[in-house]
Amino acid sequence: MSFRINPLHPLFAAEVIGFDFSAPPETMPIDEVLTAIDTYGVLAFRNTTPPTDEQHVAFSRRLGPIERGKLIKVTGHARLRLALPELVDVGNLDPDGNILPPDSRQMKFRMGDRLWHADMSFMDNRATYSLLLGHEIPPEGGDTEFADMRAAFAELPRELQQLAETVDVEHSIWHSREMAGFPPPTEEELLSRPPVRHKLAHVHARSCRKSLYVTSHASHIIGWPRDLGRGLLSELTKFATQPKFVYRHKWQLGDLLMWDNLATLHRATEFEDALYRRDMRRTTCREREVTSPDAAYA
Ligand SMILES: [Fe+2]
Repeated sequence: MSFRINPLHPLFAAEVIGFDFSAPPETMPIDEVLTAIDTYGVLAFRNTTPPTDEQHVAFSRRLGPIERGKLIKVTGHARLRLALPELVDVGNLDPDGNILPPDSRQMKFRMGDRLWHADMSFMDNRATYSLLLGHEIPPEGGDTEFADMRAAFAELPRELQQLAETVDVEHSIWHSREMAGFPPPTEEELLSRPPVRHKLAHVHARSCRKSLYVTSHASHIIGWPRDLGRGLLSELTKFATQPKFVYRHKWQLGDLLMWDNLATLHRATEFEDALYRRDMRRTTCREREVTSPDAAYA
């Protein structure tokens, strides 16, 4: 199988044309895909024939350990809409396929996606790649924005680079949900997602480029007064998401977006979510095998 790559932005992000998701997974050119994602950080596979749910999962499995999502505890869903446990449901539909009310707990939880974040930075076993397929997209709005954290790190003043490589940051999903207006978590929810710590900058292992890791789940800098740490995190996020570092993806039906959470940030943008259906399904690859039966979500 051969495919073409066209850059979409001066710094990062590219579209992939002609990838055949119906090919047997063992024959897919995975090394070429990994080389492309190492270079571009975001790949938009344009599909005239989008992968099925099974093909989506099978392709993702070739890229690393993959999460089997379980969101019942957090969103209060009694059952899931999607049959495959590897698929995370990130649209605005309830288990019967109806549009969720904007004031529902599930939609309030989803509002956190509109803050700049890396998926699952609130887990010790972080997300590497996310693969999001647009099954139904609204006629307007609902773009996804990406920011290049390797380019942003490279442009930071030297003293801030050194600082970012030194300090540890506490990440918690409850921090980003609070910022997005989600009601305070229950005791059970709190216990289900305890905070974790990560460096504020890291060396991206496959490309060997340094990358910032400032996400909306980043609550504070460990060992610093809270306000001071939050001030720095906020300044760095502002710096790293300047327009020159941002690519805005306008979805076409059937697009599969793959991004590297350890090299980019992303956020959802507004659309008429009480009016239009949006059916988006995501798989998530992880740094290591997932051993917990209650894998995390978001
Ligand atoms: Fe996300």
